Amino acid sequence: MGILYEKVMRPILFTQDPEKIHERAVVALDLLGRSRLSCAVLERFTRVPHTRPVKLFGLEFPNMVGMAAGLDKNAQFWRAASALGFGHVEIGTVTNLKQPGNPKPRLFRYPKEKAIINRMGFNNLGSETIARNLKRAGAGHKNRIPLGINIGKSKVVPLDKAVDDYLGSFNHLADFADYITINVSSPNTPELRKLQGRDYLDSLLGALRDANVHRSKKLGTAKVPMLLKIAPDLTFSEIDSIVQSIYDHEFDGIIATNTTIERPGAFASIDQTGGLSGLPLQKRSRTVVNYIYKATDGKLPIVGVGGLMDERSVGEMVDAGASLVQVYTGFIYGGPFFASRMANALASHHCTNF
Ligand SMILES: Cc1cc2nc3c(=O)[nH]c(=O)nc-3n(C[C@H](O)[C@H](O)[C@H](O)COP(=O)(O)O)c2cc1C
Repeated sequence: MGILYEKVMRPILFTQDPEKIHERAVVALDLLGRSRLSCAVLERFTRVPHTRPVKLFGLEFPNMVGMAAGLDKNAQFWRAASALGFGHVEIGTVTNLKQPGNPKPRLFRYPKEKAIINRMGFNNLGSETIARNLKRAGAGHKNRIPLGINIGKSKVVPLDKAVDDYLGSFNHLADFADYITINVSSPNTPELRKLQGRDYLDSLLGALRDANVHRSKKLGTAKVPMLLKIAPDLTFSEIDSIVQSIYDHEFDGIIATNTTIERPGAFASIDQTGGLSGLPLQKRSRTVVNYIYKATDGKLPIVGVGGLMDERSVGEMVDAGASLVQVYTGFIYGGPFFASRMANALASHHCTNF
């Protein structure tokens, strides 16, 4: 199936505008997710032997491979993710205010390098509308696989008002999420990455922790697990400071990494603004994951993401210390059966942490 996609379907699809294909895929997957029968048929092809479920943050992940944020920005097809073989799905990034994102074109493929550059800029319908859609779709009540909701800062909101902006999204969306990811690492929202600095981060994570505790007391429910998603372009001492902030504010884990603003190898001469993902990011993301794993004695759960393009690279990410992995660019290049192929490979992978 993978060969059929790579040799026949992908070359045809890749002749078309990347964002148009994405929009068509969203419509198709939305329809698929609405039909239990279609999902059941697809699952016959994507079945993962579930030999390696992962228990983390009080949740059960049927396999180790998740859909990374950015694929389903508006919560349109998360219900189809399980039928595609994913063990969890992260929707968003959702911002509190609806926003159109950056002008098009803003998504660029580099097939020879197995890479993508994007400067989408958090195009999404806003937290209130997305919460309404999630409610209508029955999210939050026994989601088939854990549903993560990734939240970020609205573009027009200045950094010193960011806390209230994130709190707005948290309050709208927490009821539907199995976990929430705080995104401070997209390169496509001006100044967003400054929120990774200690002072900003402490006030942001502290306020979200307080809101989470308040909500759980009010509703008599458990707190929603909270993760932080970081950039690959940080120094090790910046990572140390972020990890300390995560511990201080009782966050549950870290997602490493988002796209890079570095331009390694062939990309040195490519003049295209945005975040680079896929194969050129692979080594850096794995290094960051391994650094965090060692710095925390393996105690902080890490979701490894960045350049996972095949069975070997997902295995290496787990060996580097990831408890779960996520894929975006690998899914675009590998096709609809990519997640189940990776999950099957990990189910029989013998982890050797290094
Ligand atoms: C087109 C595109 C859009 C993305 N949008 C988001 C986003 O909205 N929020 C986010 O946290 N990450 C976003 N990402 C980053 C991915 O979730 C992932 O962290 C990154 O691409 C590295 O993984 P990969 O090499 O498997 O693609 C996006 C990536 C791409 C390629």
